[in-house]
Amino acid sequence: MEILTARLKLREWKEADKEPLFKLNSDPRVMEFMPKLLSKEESDNYLEVIKLRFEEDGYSFFAVELIENQTFIGLMGLSVPQFDSFFTPCVEIGWRLAYDYWGKGYATEGAKASLDYGFNELGLSEIVSFTVPRNIRSRRVMQSIGMHYVGEFNHPLLPQKHPLEKHSLYKIKKE
Ligand SMILES: CC(C)(COP(=O)(O)OP(=O)(O)OC[C@H]1O[C@@H](n2cnc3c(N)ncnc32)[C@H](O)[C@@H]1OP(=O)(O)O)[C@@H](O)C(=O)NCCC(=O)NCCS
Repeated sequence: MEILTARLKLREWKEADKEPLFKLNSDPRVMEFMPKLLSKEESDNYLEVIKLRFEEDGYSFFAVELIENQTFIGLMGLSVPQFDSFFTPCVEIGWRLAYDYWGKGYATEGAKASLDYGFNELGLSEIVSFTVPRNIRSRRVMQSIGMHYVGEFNHPLLPQKHPLEKHSLYKIKKE
């Protein structure tokens, strides 16, 4: 199972991805809008959760690799959020790329292909995305792939009054 775009391969995970995934999950620039940086053990556990979601749902966040040199540059794809809110159950689209690869259109390119996969291969009728309001880079990707802003919600997995509690929600329908 994989998704190919002009420059990217979204594929299932390999053992060799663990180290670059840890670099990503422990980089303060990449994790600016996440609750915390991950230790190696937490990053490995995060990957185990992704693999479990592949087993249970049939899909989850893919590893993203550059076709030209097979370099791992991050993660992206569709996943079922594991919390309850007014818009769940649902399928989210998400992305996290290594800092050196930002600003080259990779997130937008992979996200468009992920939407196509969700609507046409998985038969989904709607896909959501969310991030903290200050994460302008991520919100621009949401807008440029055609998602529309729904409003704000408090993320139920974060404590009340946590600085990252408030999130902006976007949606897109198949049609
Ligand atoms: C959010 C994130 C995935 C964006 O990745 P990205 O690859 O830099 O995004 P893109 O390159 O597709 O888009 C960013 C800009 O690059 C520009 N760009 C540069 N070269 C481009 C090209 N060849 N094609 C298209 N766009 C290009 C785009 O115009 C876009 O700018 P704009 O939004 O001002 O128009 C990345 O910043 C990231 O991993 N952040 C940390 C993790 C995170 O916050 N994830 C989301 C949490 S919900």
